[in-house]
Amino acid sequence: MTSTSKPQGDEKTDQVHRVLLGKKQILVTEDEPLLVQLERAGIHVEYQCREGYCSSCSVKLLWGHVIYPFEPLAWVQSGYLLACCAIVKSDIEIAFFD
Ligand code: FES
Repeated sequence: MTSTSKPQGDEKTDQVHRVLLGKKQILVTEDEPLLVQLERAGIHVEYQCREGYCSSCSVKLLWGHVIYPFEPLAWVQSGYLLACCAIVKSDIEIAFFD
């Protein structure tokens, strides 16, 4: 072994997942919460605290898997996610309205 640096092109990179929203589809990574990535894609999501307190960023999760790097203080209703702090861990489909 001559080097301790990470191998180029062989590094484990964050997974990319598809987020389906109606007829739209965006690609997201596990680097950032879903809300930030939706906004970057031009998709408006209601929010207030952006820290898991208020639940105003609640979005319906039709299928797929998300995690929370920290436990949100706001109640996460079954079948919903908090976009401001959810990290997408699989392809998912979301909806803003029932
Ligand atoms: S914006 Fe407040 S919980 Fe997400």
